[in-house]
Amino acid sequence: MLHSSPQYKIIQEWVKLTATELIYVKNEKSSMWKRSRGWIRNGKDPTSLAELDKNCFKKAWREESFIKLMNHSWFRAWTWHTEANSKALAFLIVEDQPDLFSILRVGVVPDHQRQGIGREMMDFLIQLARNEQVPKILLEVHEFNLAAQHLYFASGFRQIHLKKGYYHDPPGNALVLSKAIS
Ligand SMILES: CC(C)(COP(=O)(O)OP(=O)(O)OC[C@H]1O[C@@H](n2cnc3c(N)ncnc32)[C@H](O)[C@@H]1OP(=O)(O)O)[C@@H](O)C(=O)NCCC(=O)NCCS
Repeated sequence: MLHSSPQYKIIQEWVKLTATELIYVKNEKSSMWKRSRGWIRNGKDPTSLAELDKNCFKKAWREESFIKLMNHSWFRAWTWHTEANSKALAFLIVEDQPDLFSILRVGVVPDHQRQGIGREMMDFLIQLARNEQVPKILLEVHEFNLAAQHLYFASGFRQIHLKKGYYHDPPGNALVLSKAIS
């Protein structure tokens, strides 16, 4: 599914393959190729979410964590591109619950930060929540991640809770932020 957006034109949704569309994924541990169901971006560029995560975060999630995550029925993800099938510049992963979108991961590759993509991703998710009548978006952010906090507050999120000692590396509290969708 392709959408238009003013600056970074292409948003590509990751789609779950059906049982008949099995793909081959590399099993890291055994270095074997095994047959598996999976998710694939609705386009041709093969940039994986794990690869993007490594580019965006100092403490990246392991490839296996992504594979596990993608097995959940609530998993939804999008990547942002300048052109269809070009390399992904940013990604957003959401837990899609009946009355809630919970943001699990959001990142923009360093060379493209501070150019408005983060804001576009938030606008996209807020609009999607409206369209799908999801009343609330929730997220957690490290107390030291001021860049992300600025983005979330600028997008209308408000702090509802503090989880003390939630993060270990680096140690710190988590701010729980929420945005009501009207
Ligand atoms: C947080 C992140 C997604 C923001 O994406 P981005 O595309 O750079 O954000 P935008 O350009 O849309 O900026 C939107 C607003 O966020 C704030 N912001 C973004 N980066 C900032 C920074 N380095 N310092 C201070 N404020 C910042 C600003 O308020 C900015 O608005 P402004 O440019 O009009 O001042 C990006 O910095 C990132 O990927 N960081 C690493 C991964 C991460 O921390 N993810 C969030 C985990 S909770």
